[in-house]
Amino acid sequence: MPKPYYVTTPIYYVNDRPHIGHSYTTIAADLLARYQRLAGREAYFLTGTDEHGTKIAEAAAAAGKAPKEFCDEVVQHFKKAWSALSVEYDDFIRTTDRRHEEAVQKLLTLLNDARTDNGQTVIYPGVYEGIYCVGCEKFLTEKELVDGLCPNHKRKPEILKEKNYFFRLTAYLDRIKTLIESNELVILPDERRREVLGLLNQDLGDFSASRERVEWGIPLPFDPSQSAYVWVDALSNYITAIGYGSDETKFRKWWYDAEVVHLMAKDILKFHCIYWPAILMAAKLPLPETIFVHGFFTVDGEKMSKSLGNMIDPNDLVAQFGADATRYLLLTQYPFGADGDIQVSRLATKYNSDLANDLGNLVSRVAKMIVANFDSRVPTPVKNLEGLQELIESAEDVPDKILGHINKFEITAAIEEAMNLVRMTNRFFDTNAPWKLVKNGEKEKAGGVLYACSEVIRIAAIMLSPVMPNKSLQILSIFGLGKDHLRKENAAIFYHLEPGARVHFVESIFPRQDVSESKTEPSRKKTSESVDGLIDFADFGKLKLVVAEVLDAEKLSGSDKLLRLQIDIGEEKRQIIAGVAEYYSPEEIKGKKIVVVKNLKPAKIRGVESNGMLLAAKKDGRLCLVVPESDLPAGAIIS
Ligand code: MSP
Repeated sequence: MPKPYYVTTPIYYVNDRPHIGHSYTTIAADLLARYQRLAGREAYFLTGTDEHGTKIAEAAAAAGKAPKEFCDEVVQHFKKAWSALSVEYDDFIRTTDRRHEEAVQKLLTLLNDARTDNGQTVIYPGVYEGIYCVGCEKFLTEKELVDGLCPNHKRKPEILKEKNYFFRLTAYLDRIKTLIESNELVILPDERRREVLGLLNQDLGDFSASRERVEWGIPLPFDPSQSAYVWVDALSNYITAIGYGSDETKFRKWWYDAEVVHLMAKDILKFHCIYWPAILMAAKLPLPETIFVHGFFTVDGEKMSKSLGNMIDPNDLVAQFGADATRYLLLTQYPFGADGDIQVSRLATKYNSDLANDLGNLVSRVAKMIVANFDSRVPTPVKNLEGLQELIESAEDVPDKILGHINKFEITAAIEEAMNLVRMTNRFFDTNAPWKLVKNGEKEKAGGVLYACSEVIRIAAIMLSPVMPNKSLQILSIFGLGKDHLRKENAAIFYHLEPGARVHFVESIFPRQDVSESKTEPSRKKTSESVDGLIDFADFGKLKLVVAEVLDAEKLSGSDKLLRLQIDIGEEKRQIIAGVAEYYSPEEIKGKKIVVVKNLKPAKIRGVESNGMLLAAKKDGRLCLVVPESDLPAGAIIS
């Protein structure tokens, strides 16, 4: 029997409504738990909310509410959003739950009594003085400030001096490093693992385990004038929810005996990959198996933020696309694990092409023909159809391939595997043209084509059920199959459907979207583009174009279209990724003078940073670089 599987999301701050950033992680965790269950494994999925700290107390005060009253209200938005997205968690922990507060106090008592390997106390009192941003809820370093202000909140940090109890992080850093290096503690993707190892090479000091000034928090059992530091409080949720300090059997099962996976984005990597393992070590508890850190996405190329007004409410997406399609669309916008961009304008187009056309049409074409020509009964299979053997082999391979991807957190690739099978079935349907066969009196053969298509639809529905749980069940119900059929073993064998079984036709599983207007466009600040498409001179002036020299060029591995260029723009050297590999070889472009936009926000292309964009002209399938006429030096400004 495989180990049980325990997957968690971060617990989200309740000073904000849920947006698609929170939804992304939560859907991914829900999907991972569902895939494990599909494969026959016991799984437990935990999410929740982080409700203590100054930031929450401030948000409550601004809303004219007591903190707990405020949290009780906001938490409902999270629960409703998760229900709207068909997220089925096993538990939802709130840091204001009694069970959590009591368990955190037990943990703090234990830590206060604990000793490091060389006999020092794990917790010790001290005085902390630092610059503290209330918005971030953390002390900042001078280096992090921009013009003396917190870069995130654009506000002046406070100088804070207070008694704190410190956690002796420094006693654990070497061991954490060894565990990460030897992959006993797995941090994925590798880029993030390297980032953590980089952090471990810097001078990390001990951290405060308590705060004096934060009233909205869990009091320290050994000094109630202090509150537990928010991160100690928050990180503990992963164990307090599964019975730490209250239900030993449950705790053993899901912490000691399970494969523990923490999922989050890179913003909170340090706390999860360094602080949390240290706390667990000090408490003599096992560490999680894997910390998977997915990327941060932008929306239409911009960071999501309240001030830009581009936060997308998951409920709006559900209203437009439904829960299942929203789950599908969010997780297929860019590879899971990488940084990426959610393009609102592409959602409806992708919905139409993947869901309405590829999957939805296949289901309705097949079911419709069975209803019309085979008296709504599953027809009899036929061997020797064009492409049948290949289709069967692909279908039977798909479940293992998908689960292989899932075990490597390749969610996007797993979904693509299922959708490729769907596309292959559409081609099989078109090649064998069952409607023509019926017309030509070859009804038996037409039945064979439809049987094969129904089988693949059944297999695809099972294997997509963690992504689209409701639609998958709806598809299975067309063939008279229910929830109990959702098991990987059922997907791994062809010829499962019983000929003669009743087929229930459903008009359209994914009704087409009108792409002429997107109802989900977030409200955003308008640019100064006028109705006739002309821009102001001032807008053009924002573009900084310079001459650059290509110092080095190479193909970007895994891409036929992209080159990685090292360029000199006069005052500095930079790397850009350019989509010119089909027109220029690295040797041809090396040494050329080109024109580059130098003030573009850095972007990640296939996980590689690109700092600028070169100019090229394209017509009738030809592309050439825009180059300065005379041999101007790198850095010359183009105006
Ligand atoms: N309360 C802490 C976490 C404590 S966990 C012990 C916190 N909360 S948060 O509300 O800010 O949530 C951060 C998390 O939300 C990210 O790690 C990620 O899971 C998710 N995301 C928020 N915005 C996101 C994007 N733009 N892109 C991807 N994930 C995003 O930090």
